[in-house]
Amino acid sequence: MRVPTHSLLSLALLLPASLFAADAQETARTVCAACHGIDGNSTEPATPKLAGMDQEYLMRQLKAFAAGRRHDDAMSAIIATVDSSDFAKLAAYYGLQRPAPGKVRDAQLAARGRTLFEDGNTDTGVPACAGCHQSDGKGNARFPRLAGQHQAYTLKQLADYKSGRRATDPLMTSVGKRLTADEAKALAEYVAGL
Ligand code: HEC
Ligand code: HEC
Repeated sequence: MRVPTHSLLSLALLLPASLFAADAQETARTVCAACHGIDGNSTEPATPKLAGMDQEYLMRQLKAFAAGRRHDDAMSAIIATVDSSDFAKLAAYYGLQRPAPGKVRDAQLAARGRTLFEDGNTDTGVPACAGCHQSDGKGNARFPRLAGQHQAYTLKQLADYKSGRRATDPLMTSVGKRLTADEAKALAEYVAGL
């Protein structure tokens, strides 16, 4: 049976906005939750927590994966199956979730990370992370939230910026290139506890 287009259109106009959010929740539940957790608080250390991250940042990363500007075997394969018109709704869904706190395992290492985060390293030209990511690590639309993130994920991103594997932003690439492996470890430990 053919339904006249105009009646479908008027039906769409009558649907409450909450149904569209429910839509994204469905994709989040059936597709993304396996790795990122139902509320965006992944429990797998190599998979980022998305809860509470800025929507615009999440949207940029989804587009970067879809366009091949950022690559990860798991994430790139998944994003190819998602309609790009759903990206904004997915970003909004995760942006609204409450982020679960991370866990510091080595207080001494975290203390070293704190100094670097707040002051940088003037000898090697590492800028203070706080200058962009905010002193509480909560970030904003331009500079992503780092607070509470899994150590393993943060560490991998810093290594990927350093090696050039992740080249989604020239500012962060230049920061990554200046960090030593030890500094990156201390920073990942510190931001997990923010
Ligand atoms: C099979 C596991 C898997 C599934 C399913 C998956 N992801 Fe991911 N996702 C990952 C991994 C692993 C990364 C980290 C990639 C890297 O190391 O750069 C990631 C990264 C991301 C990022 C970047 C976060 C940041 O902080 O930059 C976003 C956004 C994201 N995923 C959204 C989604 C959405 C939305 C879905 C569902 C449509 C989804 N993912 C499904 C594994 C998965
Ligand atoms: C000049 C501004 C600036 C400074 C300083 C800066 N960052 Fe960033 N950072 C960014 C931007 C912009 C992004 C998003 C890049 C992108 O889209 O790939 C980012 C992304 C990141 C990410 C990836 C987050 C994710 O969810 O995938 C990590 C980790 C990170 N920064 C850590 C740090 C650390 C640690 C420092 C301090 C040593 C630092 N940044 C200093 C601008 C900055």
